[in-house]
Amino acid sequence: MRLRLLSIVFLLVSGLLILVACGGDDSADDGATDTDDAGDTDGEITKLVAGTDATYAPMEYIDENGDIVGINIDIVDAMAEELGIEVEYKNIGWDPLFPAVKNGEVDFAVSSITITEDRQEEMDFTEPYYVANQLILTAEDSDVASFTDLEGKRVAVQMGTTGHHVVQELLGETSPDILAAESMPLAISEMINGNADAAVGDNSTVNEYLKNNPGDNLKTVEDDSFEKEYYGLAVQKGNTEVLDLLNKGIELIKENGKLAEISGFELVVE
Ligand code: ARG
Repeated sequence: MRLRLLSIVFLLVSGLLILVACGGDDSADDGATDTDDAGDTDGEITKLVAGTDATYAPMEYIDENGDIVGINIDIVDAMAEELGIEVEYKNIGWDPLFPAVKNGEVDFAVSSITITEDRQEEMDFTEPYYVANQLILTAEDSDVASFTDLEGKRVAVQMGTTGHHVVQELLGETSPDILAAESMPLAISEMINGNADAAVGDNSTVNEYLKNNPGDNLKTVEDDSFEKEYYGLAVQKGNTEVLDLLNKGIELIKENGKLAEISGFELVVE
């Protein structure tokens, strides 16, 4: 009798232990993936959660079906395919994006992020996979013909971007002539509404706006002083596991020609 009781207790306890062990797999609900909840037992990553600011067409934006799409998304999807992993995208906005990488809320960020020295102090970056530069958007009849012509003018930018930084260098860090908006489309509408004389942002996005809005009578102005900017994927500092995997993905799509095919150019890093 006592023996039977003991074996029942034993069975119950081992059953509980199995339940507890299985309960550890919470990859479906908490988003960010680490080795424990990557969905299999040998610690290999099978899924990653990526954060983005999907307001940056054609690079990352929401399409008419409500899906997160764009050139950057195609690039990461091509990497994921080669790596045999799944990537889930979360549209969390620009301002909360770096904090989400730093606190591990997402495994990495893909958002046309320029690799800069300041950012490298806070996060780790993959190898560069895309090249861009700043571009000025202004009224067709504006007298702005170069970057320095923006002196004395009001300039709209997306807050905390490299566009914001270059304009701060020209007009002063706390210049009241800088209109720092939450997103690039909002920065551009400030200009359209007459609150700013120009907007500055990454070339792909500025060109896309120009192309899609011919009725706005705008033009773009290039300037040689704008340095080349290289996009990278940002991961939490020290997360070499995710960093190595993403770098491998970039390598694979460079080799198979997918990266050049999606970007529309062959990346040359100077
Ligand atoms: N390349 C610029 C930067 O890194 C702008 C990126 C903005 N991206 C976005 N999805 N809003 O600062």
